[in-house]
Amino acid sequence: MEKAKKQKKFFSLKLKWALGTSVGSFIIFCIVAMSLFSAFTQNLLHSERELLDSGMSVISQQLGRSDTTLDRTQISNIIIPDRERDNFISGQRYRRPIIQELSDSHLIVNIYNPQKRNIFSTGESLSHVQLSRSKQVREVKGPTHNVLVGTQAIYSHHNHRVIGYLQVENKLNAYYKSYNQFKLVCFFAMLLVVLTSGLLGYFLSYFLLQPLGDIHDTVKEISQDPTKSIRVPITGRNDELAELTAMFNEMLDRMQRYIEQQSQFVGDVSHELRTPVAIIQGHLEMLQRWGKDDPNVLDDSLAASLAETKRMKNLVQEMLDLSRAEQVEINFRNQRTVVNDVVHQVFNNFKMLYPKFTFTLDDDLHSPVISNIYRDHLEQVLVILCDNAIKYSQERREVHISLSRGMNTVEIGVQDFGEGIAPEDVKKVFDRFYRVDKARSRKKGGNGLGLSIAKRLIEGYHGSIALESSIGAGSIFRIILPIIGEDDLGKNSTSAEDKN
Ligand SMILES: Nc1ncnc2c1ncn2[C@@H]1O[C@H](COP(=O)(O)OP(=O)(O)OP(=O)(O)O)[C@@H](O)[C@H]1O
Ligand SMILES: [Mg+2]
Repeated sequence: MEKAKKQKKFFSLKLKWALGTSVGSFIIFCIVAMSLFSAFTQNLLHSERELLDSGMSVISQQLGRSDTTLDRTQISNIIIPDRERDNFISGQRYRRPIIQELSDSHLIVNIYNPQKRNIFSTGESLSHVQLSRSKQVREVKGPTHNVLVGTQAIYSHHNHRVIGYLQVENKLNAYYKSYNQFKLVCFFAMLLVVLTSGLLGYFLSYFLLQPLGDIHDTVKEISQDPTKSIRVPITGRNDELAELTAMFNEMLDRMQRYIEQQSQFVGDVSHELRTPVAIIQGHLEMLQRWGKDDPNVLDDSLAASLAETKRMKNLVQEMLDLSRAEQVEINFRNQRTVVNDVVHQVFNNFKMLYPKFTFTLDDDLHSPVISNIYRDHLEQVLVILCDNAIKYSQERREVHISLSRGMNTVEIGVQDFGEGIAPEDVKKVFDRFYRVDKARSRKKGGNGLGLSIAKRLIEGYHGSIALESSIGAGSIFRIILPIIGEDDLGKNSTSAEDKN
């Protein structure tokens, strides 16, 4: 199968395009040329027929003047004038205008007596057809090409008896000359059309498909070295291929970002896991060596190991959440949630769980507001923010939650009056594993992943999360989510059960 794939020859799109336009124009040209050709030749043949027909009529009209059976002398008497007759009898061509005219028109006239014996001829006949009484014009095969032959009986005008037979032959010389000329012209015109359309097609495709060539070259280079930062050059055009180029470059950016994030993530995780594993290992080694005999040391070591195990469990769960948060755009694209419900629910839960804290909710929304976010994810983000607010509060144990509306957005604020964050740390707190004070956060069980999960989730739903903080005064986190509708009944909201 693979061999077959490899053996497939590369056939450039430009050549295919050029070939396609050539074949297309060839077919169209053939159809047009054939119809023109057929109309033209039929017309020509028709006029040749008419010429033959009128020639026959004139001759039979003139010969019909005789009232006896036709013979050689009579014919010359009728159609050849006296001064020319001598020439005719001595075997030379006659010069009577009608016959000359017919002769010039390539008509061969043969006259037969009633016994069908030839008595007069202006040239050698190319065909042999049956003489008929009625007027007949037929196309018959000649030695090189078809000829038109007309036959008819000659009736005397006086007694209406058959006095002879007439056979007029049109060699169709003029017709075949024009026919061959037209064929030649058609052939050269076809060559011209096919070549020009092919060349035009090639250059047009060369110009139009240039971005495809650039994409091809970029893919080739990136597949050889995925870390290369080369991108498809942007042209000033405004078409599907320009759009494709922009999307392709964006995709490359995202792909490289993912690769970098992935390798950084693995590094961060192994670094984060090393500490608890080292602590547990230290305790177990100590217990193994001597600690197990001392009940106090045994108790302390077991408690410390258990705490570290719990931390590891949390860490693993948070890492899982983080990696899932990266894919919300793909997996939770069409989720709808009534924002007010979730905020009220989280507010009530925290109020119950932390009675020592004062929770206030300032709800400025007068009707349910729906946003394109999975309900559990919004809840998770609020829990992360409230959890931080509690964890990093000091004397003033207050958490203030607010709900308000922008133009097409809904804003949720979570404010605390705790230790606050220094300006240089404000941006960094959303980074993975970033803690302002590592030792203190660790003591509080923090892994430094909560805010990065929250940021990724919210941005995955095309929202934003911002932080304002000042050391000692507290912090306020603001989530902004786009509104997709308002629903009085909140019928369209989703819950964890809906998703599962
Ligand atoms: N409300 C807050 N007030 C003061 N500092 C905060 C606040 N929220 C977060 N921080 C600082 O930002 C850091 C990152 O917070 P984040 O929630 O990401 O991690 P964490 O709380 O340490 O651990 P966890 O992963 O368990 O949430 C914290 O370590 C803390 O130093
Ligand atoms: Mg946290």
